Parts: sequence; C-alpha cells; structure tokens
Amino acid sequence: MTPSEEDLVGAALAARDRAYAPYSHYHVGCAVSAGGRIFPGANIENASYGLTLCAERAAASAAVIAGERRIDAVAVATQSSPPAPPCGMCLQTIAEFADDPARLPVVVVNDRGERRRFTLAELLPHGFTGAALESTRK
Ligand code: THU
Repeated sequence: MTPSEEDLVGAALAARDRAYAPYSHYHVGCAVSAGGRIFPGANIENASYGLTLCAERAAASAAVIAGERRIDAVAVATQSSPPAPPCGMCLQTIAEFADDPARLPVVVVNDRGERRRFTLAELLPHGFTGAALESTRK
C-alpha cells in the first residue's frame, strides 16, 4: 500500500532529528516513498564543506540501495519559513527515479505547520534525462 502523505511527512520530520549539520545548523529531513515503503534521509555535513550530502539524496540513495528504483512521492522537512523545496542537485537525483515527474508529489513542511505541495515537474520543468544521451548514440 502507498504510504499516506501524513506518514511520509512524519518520517521526514523524524529523520530531520538525525541530521548532522554542525556547520550550517540547518537541519533537513526527507522521506521518499518507493515500492510501498518509506526511506528516510537527513543531511550529513562535512568539515570539507563540499562533501555535504543533502537529505533528499541520502533518502533516494537508501531506496535505490534497497532495490527500489521508482520513487513515488517525496516529503521534506526543513527549518525554513516558508518551507524550502529541494536544491537542484537533489531534484535531478529524484528525477532519475521518477516515472512521471508531473505526477510525483513533493511536499515540503516546517515546524510551524506550513506545508507546500508541488510536483517534481513544477520544481524541475526541464531536467536533464537519459534521452539526451541516447539521442547522440548512432
Ligand atoms: N540541504 C539539504 O539537505 N537539502 C537541500 O535540498 C538543500 C540543502 C542541506 C545541505 C546543508 O547541510 C544544509 O542544508 C545547508 O545548505
């Protein structure tokens, strides 16, 4: 069964508590729904700042490593008001595992109870896909 939005949001909020963000102090939690299961992720920073892993890529990686290659829905919990959508790198990562970006919900929340709902296609309307690579192969 597909997890409800409430389940996904709850998992993202819980994952945010496990963020490792001693440099930015900006804690992010994410939960992706894939194969009827929920995979959580949190941001993991590094003293070498550029090595930082975003919550969304951590969650997407967990799903793929578990054998799930189709992401059905995403929830992100940030500390921003209004709640912030995922960065471009994370959108591109999610898109790699999206069946139909126009039907993949991305809901972003914060502690104030604010909630914004997007589709992946709204956030990344012209993402790069494998189709571009195939078009160059003869
Ligand atoms: N961050 C995420 O986890 N996801 C995003 O989509 C944007 C930013 C993290 C990275 C870093 O640890 C902190 O938020 C501040 O940029």
